[in-house]
Amino acid sequence: MANLVIVGTQWGDEGKGKIVDLLAEHADLVVRFQGGNNAGHTMVVAGEQIISHLVPSGILQGKTCMIGNGLVIDPAVLLSEIDYLSEKGVDCGPAKLVVSERAQVIMPYHMQIDNGREKLKGKNKIGTTGRGIGPTYEDKATRRGIRMADLIDPDVFEETLNEVLPEKNFYLEKFLGETPADVNAIIDQYSAFAKRLAPYVGNVSVAINKAIQQQKQVLFEGAQGTHLDIDHGTYPFVTSSNTVSGNACCGAGVGPKSISDVVGIVKAYTTRVGAGPFTTELFDDTGDFIQKKGAEFGATTGRRRRCGWLDTVILNNAVRLNGLTGMAITKLDVLGGIDTLKICTAYKYKDERLDAFPASLKVLEACEPIYETLPGWDEDISQLRRFEDLPMNVRGYLKRIEELTGIPVQIVSVGPGREQTIILNNPLV
Ligand code: GDP
Ligand code: IMO
Ligand code: MG
Repeated sequence: MANLVIVGTQWGDEGKGKIVDLLAEHADLVVRFQGGNNAGHTMVVAGEQIISHLVPSGILQGKTCMIGNGLVIDPAVLLSEIDYLSEKGVDCGPAKLVVSERAQVIMPYHMQIDNGREKLKGKNKIGTTGRGIGPTYEDKATRRGIRMADLIDPDVFEETLNEVLPEKNFYLEKFLGETPADVNAIIDQYSAFAKRLAPYVGNVSVAINKAIQQQKQVLFEGAQGTHLDIDHGTYPFVTSSNTVSGNACCGAGVGPKSISDVVGIVKAYTTRVGAGPFTTELFDDTGDFIQKKGAEFGATTGRRRRCGWLDTVILNNAVRLNGLTGMAITKLDVLGGIDTLKICTAYKYKDERLDAFPASLKVLEACEPIYETLPGWDEDISQLRRFEDLPMNVRGYLKRIEELTGIPVQIVSVGPGREQTIILNNPLV
């Protein structure tokens, strides 16, 4: 019996959706524990691509899915995702999908504030997804939030809204120069959402703990990546939640002893969408090659992702912060066709060698990567299904990642499809 947390080790978009969908076959419950619809998780099954923003990526395997208290939920997005999946014949009813009564609700003013602030920051913007994530978490921390339990109780909803809206409108109008929100319009819109969502709302913590007691296997699906973590990432160019594995406990309502395994998803190179430091970023033809071959466009905003070499300074940061027990290396096929590959093993800051990821952005921005080089490969590996069949240089690249991180590679992904995977050691079997 294993309860497994899946986390991104870099800056998001490592292929968490694909790996969660794959491993969900052996899970009983799949649970999201943080973030919101800033996430875009892609699954490709029988050639069809499905992107989910809120519903856990276990839904296509027919597993019971849960949205934990640690999330911020845009009800319009959740409902349209339920509709989209249902139209595709995926069972997404309340028996299959439970939403925590304690999860926070994204309100229209949160999105307005998110976008208004970014506009005001101009060239210094964070490059958020504009989904209202930060302002919703901010209201949670300052105790002005509206939770799912409050949304589905019309009296509480109206009372809370009337309490918070004057302050929001003052800020929107007077500081951001945005249009103030209309209380009645929000009540109309959100009471319709509440009616539809009420059957989905429940106590996720109780349900997960009961499943664990019954020896069921739970898969916790992280969103974003370790270096977008609000505490441990490249602050302030981060998201507004803890993305590391420890937050699976807080964000789903389970104790730390319930977690047995933590698999970090590692893209075979590095990408980042939005602003912020990125030491191994490439601005040359190789960067363009990776961006094009890897189809590196954001699954949520469609923005072009910045691309660069694999960075084991950040990987080792992720190993420590998440307590990784294994890794899944994704998009390895994308590196085929590059003569010489580089892996960053440390940073150079002035005359100093840094092995640890610095907290100061000023220092980080001044760091230069120290690379080692490895021979690349030309072969198309996307059709290979056995580790022994991988070309020698591919295996050499994987072995070097294991040596530099001290963590075993459990899964190798060689294409977006569920079947395009080599499983060396399935953590749930
Ligand atoms: P997530 O946010 O971590 O779930 O990742 P995204 O879905 O945002 O981005 C990963 C992208 O890479 C998606 O388009 C996936 O379909 C695709 N993908 C996942 N694994 C592989 C792989 O091994 N090879 C290739 N070529 N594409 C992959
Ligand atoms: P998945 O789960 C990549 C980035 C945004 C921005 C920063 C803050 O698909 O890996 P936010 O809207 O969260 O306030 O934006 O975080 N970001 C992501 N980047 N993948 C994601 O999710 C992301 N979610 C947020 O681009 O730089
Ligand atoms: Mg994504």
